[in-house]
Amino acid sequence: MNDINLFTPLKIKGLTLKNRIVLPPMVRFSLIGKDGHVTDELVDWYEEIAVGGVGMIILEAACVAEDGKLRENQIGIWDDTFIPGLTKIADACRKHKTPTLIQLHHAGFKEKISTISEEKLDGILEEFIAAFHRAKKCGFDGIEIHGAHTYLISQLHSKLWNKRTDKYGDRLYFTRQLIKKTKDIFDDNFILGIRIGGNEPTLKDGIQIAKEVEKAGVDLIHVSSGVPDPSFKQDRKIEMPVDFPLDWVVYLGVEIKKHIKIPVIAVRAIKKEGEASYLVENNLVDLVAVGRAMISRPHWISWAKKKYRFRKNTNGRLL
Ligand SMILES: Cc1cc2nc3c(=O)[nH]c(=O)nc-3n(C[C@H](O)[C@H](O)[C@H](O)COP(=O)(O)O)c2cc1C
Repeated sequence: MNDINLFTPLKIKGLTLKNRIVLPPMVRFSLIGKDGHVTDELVDWYEEIAVGGVGMIILEAACVAEDGKLRENQIGIWDDTFIPGLTKIADACRKHKTPTLIQLHHAGFKEKISTISEEKLDGILEEFIAAFHRAKKCGFDGIEIHGAHTYLISQLHSKLWNKRTDKYGDRLYFTRQLIKKTKDIFDDNFILGIRIGGNEPTLKDGIQIAKEVEKAGVDLIHVSSGVPDPSFKQDRKIEMPVDFPLDWVVYLGVEIKKHIKIPVIAVRAIKKEGEASYLVENNLVDLVAVGRAMISRPHWISWAKKKYRFRKNTNGRLL
């Protein structure tokens, strides 16, 4: 019998997560100025989440290049002037023993990815590497590479969009190089995660990507969505068994976990304790990300604990 529940700690290398709930990266547009610098309001928001008792925080997408932002007001990490602000967030979260990764991002070029020069991509790879070093200086516990949601790395991973004939036509080349060239900064207390598209565009491609990044040495995989197959007109972008009770993106995470050994985070539309517990208690994934529900309820964990106890005391159903 699996007696793991939502509040069972998890060790990832030298980091101890107090429970299985993760705050996924979410750009807090209204708390950030156009210069990309961290504001006091942003520090307060992350500290509030840490106080709420979440197992791990993944800081919102920080852009590795000024010309690679997804929106004007997104935090930056493209030069050293960003280090003091980001350090304040890392310090605030550490005070509450909450491991915190920072997500590193470049928006890329969408379907035009195949027309971008090799030199430009070589340059972005260097920008990513420099940002990795800055992230470590800030005192975070690790990095999450943003390889999902149709941004640069997702574009490169996508066989729908990446039709390149140079070295970047090997769709995992950029990612593998990034991991290889930064290997020296990772250790037991500084870990590497990646968010991938579990549909890139099919689940089979997502599984392949997951296996490759695991082999390349990442410590943690966060499964979200990729460049969708345009033939799916509805919200759901894959075929999925009719009896799967949660969102299709969660299904991608559950399926990918079956093929790899490192911990997997599932995400999307998980709002209730029973939904999160269902995934963890059945060992379908290791960690569950709760995003929008955590924005509306920053103390989601203590609320979920009450629901959990009530369910156990009344023999309530998981879903
Ligand atoms: C306001 C907002 C900002 C987001 N910013 C990011 C981001 O910076 N990086 C990322 O990978 N996903 C981002 N996402 C996606 C979330 O991480 C998450 O995958 C999505 O909200 C689904 O989870 P939820 O239903 O629990 O909110 C964002 C979502 C929202 C609502």
